[in-house]
Amino acid sequence: MFFISLLDPAPAQVITAGMQKVTMDFTLNTDGVPVYSVSYDQKVIIKPSALGFTFTNNDNFNSNFEIQGSEKRSVDETWKPVWGQVNEIRNHYEEVTVHLKQHATNRLLDISFRVFADGVAFRYEFPKQPRIKYFIVTDELTQFNLTGNHKAFWIPGDYDTNEYPYTTCKISEIDNKELVEKSTAIAVRVAPDRYAVQTPLMMKTDDGLYINIHEAALVNYPAMQLHVNDSTYQLSARLVPDAYGNKAYLHAPFHTPWRTIIVSDKATDILASNMILNLNGPSAIQNTSWIKPMKFIGVWWEMQTGKGTWSYSDYPDSTDAKGNLIPNGKHSANTANVKRYIDFASKNGIKGVLVEGWNTGWEDWFGNWKENVFDFVTPYPDFNVKEISDYAKAKGVDMIMHNETSGSATNYERQMDTAFRFMKEFGYKAVKTGYVGRIIPRGEHHDGQWMVNHYLRSIEKAASYEIMIDIHEPMRPTGLQRTWPNFMACEAARGNEYNAFSKGNAPDHETILPFTRLMGGPMDYTPGIFKLSHYASDTTRRVHTTLAKQLALYVTMYSPLQMAADLPENYEAHMDAFQFIKDVPVDWDDTKILAAEPGDYVVIARKGKGTNSWFLGAITDENARQFVEDLSFLDKGKKYIATIYADAPDADWKTNPEAYTIRKITVSSTTHLSLKLAPGGGAAASIVPR
Ligand code: NOJ
Ligand code: CA
Repeated sequence: MFFISLLDPAPAQVITAGMQKVTMDFTLNTDGVPVYSVSYDQKVIIKPSALGFTFTNNDNFNSNFEIQGSEKRSVDETWKPVWGQVNEIRNHYEEVTVHLKQHATNRLLDISFRVFADGVAFRYEFPKQPRIKYFIVTDELTQFNLTGNHKAFWIPGDYDTNEYPYTTCKISEIDNKELVEKSTAIAVRVAPDRYAVQTPLMMKTDDGLYINIHEAALVNYPAMQLHVNDSTYQLSARLVPDAYGNKAYLHAPFHTPWRTIIVSDKATDILASNMILNLNGPSAIQNTSWIKPMKFIGVWWEMQTGKGTWSYSDYPDSTDAKGNLIPNGKHSANTANVKRYIDFASKNGIKGVLVEGWNTGWEDWFGNWKENVFDFVTPYPDFNVKEISDYAKAKGVDMIMHNETSGSATNYERQMDTAFRFMKEFGYKAVKTGYVGRIIPRGEHHDGQWMVNHYLRSIEKAASYEIMIDIHEPMRPTGLQRTWPNFMACEAARGNEYNAFSKGNAPDHETILPFTRLMGGPMDYTPGIFKLSHYASDTTRRVHTTLAKQLALYVTMYSPLQMAADLPENYEAHMDAFQFIKDVPVDWDDTKILAAEPGDYVVIARKGKGTNSWFLGAITDENARQFVEDLSFLDKGKKYIATIYADAPDADWKTNPEAYTIRKITVSSTTHLSLKLAPGGGAAASIVPR
């Protein structure tokens, strides 16, 4: 008897933390494996789930732990973002840090949990210690054990791209061939695991809870994807590897990114959550006065749709006897055309002009996996850098640089200082970078640790030159814009551009993005296409929205850097509708998520920074919908003029997308504003004090 009781495990110690409806329990199981669970309103939403690692040589760092102690603290503070959806953010959580020691190896691991009113976050911390110095993670073993067969809104876990259409299905259907093929129709899936999904992963339970799993503050570590077990409903971390299959090369002391679980019984709360931003550190930039949100147009859509080209000549060997490139006559980034865009921007109060295809290299940039295609400073002969920057300056327009790296991140690292000095010299205030193609160094992935570090180096370098940055083809964001507020936006999802060169984005695409990709940060989605069909030589191409929905996206798809993506001539044909793009701010004092359901609709109202004007955007999927919005967020007793840009009664994304109406009415905080959205439609409104 005595002998047996010695072997009996001591009753497991349970450490808990809670905030309002959310609670987290931590314990060790009988094998000494760290295990956590999460409840919302006394209902378990994450069943006991293991935590831990495997290091190289199958070195187990996930069991045989003992709890050495724990500490608890509460934080309740507010902070002001440099730009954002609101001007003040409350950061209120209870934190518990558990100190663990692995028997036999005497190695230490801390796990910190933060419990917020809208969810739980945790991260691993490797304290400085004699037995862990440099170490290599071959697997992170974090689990999220779901309680049922939830509905999921997902894209595949690819190591190199997030540019997929979303699939909506039950967890048990995630390996359904038809669905997978549908979702991989355009992007090539590099990752071998057909059960892997990308985060942010949005889910809805049968009893109406919304659960979102992602990560925050991804620094010096690979992006986390989730492997799905479609019969047990277990999700487990799957980190993006390097060429050797290793995941992360680390040096203690170190802490991982936060793993985040946002939960609510209201979909609107998911969109209103600031948890991911709160888990990132404060601004690392002291003087932020040069960081200015802006709208921009660009010499861009005309290349996307095939009207013009990025390259100056057609092929790399298309040279004359003297070795000069022979112009193809379609090069869009020529001085005269760029001036036309500058004129349009200046006339309409659009601050920025982006020009792509201005520098040499575009004849042979795509798919060849070459190292030194671009040098980021040599313009084509028809692009006069000085003349263009002087012209822009005289017209009060800021030029936006384009640095496509064609995946050669090493080449960009070598050239970065030269590239940023060039931008400074010619007055460029922002840069759009890009990483199309396989990453060089060979074997690295867009979402692996090496590239995670590269993107951050580019952000830091841009900050040191006081330049704002918009990154295309990076890993999806994790709230780092709080620490680096010059990191204005990035792509990392299927943008509007897919409507130019593929079958396009389904009408529900933009109703899912805020719940997935945008949870981590703003997206350069490039809204504002007015000519919705017959813009490409392939006349079957079309944008799967109405024109009014394109306007609404300026509100529903938050970004401090927002493109008006269409051609000046297409705006000139609808200057009455373009007025909304002119008026809509890109920085906000307040945001109200009025209604939302992933895959179906999103209705948001925002108050422009430093003004008393509100802007409302409502979008729907393929179904027509009607909303009656309560405007009680307006100042009591004040009258406002609402200008409502709506789908015309006969509008439909398929048959009549460009039909809209504009009406002005007087509204107040007691108004119930009725909005009718066409199939694939939307509505936008500016609400300005009278
Ligand atoms: C892909 C980007 O998303 C797009 O905006 C850009 O025009 C091309 N790459 C070329 O750099
Ligand atoms: Ca739907």
